[in-house]
Amino acid sequence: MITIVGSINLDIVATGASLPRPGETVTGATLARHPGGKGANQALAARRLGADVRLVGAVGADDMAEEALKLLQAGSVDLSGVQHVNGETTGVALIAVSADGENQIVVCPGANAVLRPADVEFVEIEHMMGVLEVSADTLLAAARKATGFVSLNLAPAMVVPDELLAEADLISVNETEAAYYGGALHQLDAYVAISLGGDGATLWKDGKQIAQALPPKVNVVDTVGAGDTFTAALTVALIEGQSPQKALEFAVAAGAVACTKPGAQPSLPKRVDLDPYL
Ligand code: RIB
Repeated sequence: MITIVGSINLDIVATGASLPRPGETVTGATLARHPGGKGANQALAARRLGADVRLVGAVGADDMAEEALKLLQAGSVDLSGVQHVNGETTGVALIAVSADGENQIVVCPGANAVLRPADVEFVEIEHMMGVLEVSADTLLAAARKATGFVSLNLAPAMVVPDELLAEADLISVNETEAAYYGGALHQLDAYVAISLGGDGATLWKDGKQIAQALPPKVNVVDTVGAGDTFTAALTVALIEGQSPQKALEFAVAAGAVACTKPGAQPSLPKRVDLDPYL
């Protein structure tokens, strides 16, 4: 069982020709709402790839909560660790997507910000995945309880306590985050995965690159959630005992397939969807 400790959002998505520059207004976009949040996306991605998954997180006591949780429920993610917090809103991500699938995201954390270490106190944790859209203290409490593999997605980039990094078996970042954290990641006793968008990904251990994978050619519609899919797939594959190279190829293929449909959670692939690319 993998316990994901992370964020749950409702994504409000405007898809248009181009992304606005600072101070610019762009018009002509179309509006959609999808369940999202890096924690929720990773939970559903791992579930669709065959893992037993529990999500620990928080939503508000509002109308958006049900909408944010509906695909997790439909996908049989264990939501017994999700609290409905009075006085808080469900997390919301305002997302702009351009015609070439690039995106900009602004997150209003709402209830995600009140998840505390006490919320994992009575949760039995075997394998764990965590993402920085909830507090590092809560992730540390969960990681210390984990008896198996600990996967940390250091997104969005921010200062992270050394004690938390020391708990990790896998750290995953994108290029921007890798530049923020710098060489310190390579001092850790953990795999370090760096996703590179259309250039695939690399996997590192002890400062040495041990695997590299390029994505299959796909028609990119929307990259939102691709990084979450990559992280979840890599974690699932390494827990299954796949070799670092095979696990990275699996994760890169999963991330690429997640770009072929709009929305974070609606686009998450099942295992069978990856067969043509592996
Ligand atoms: O990684 C994509 C996710 O980031 C979106 O679903 C959005 O909710 C933000 O958390």
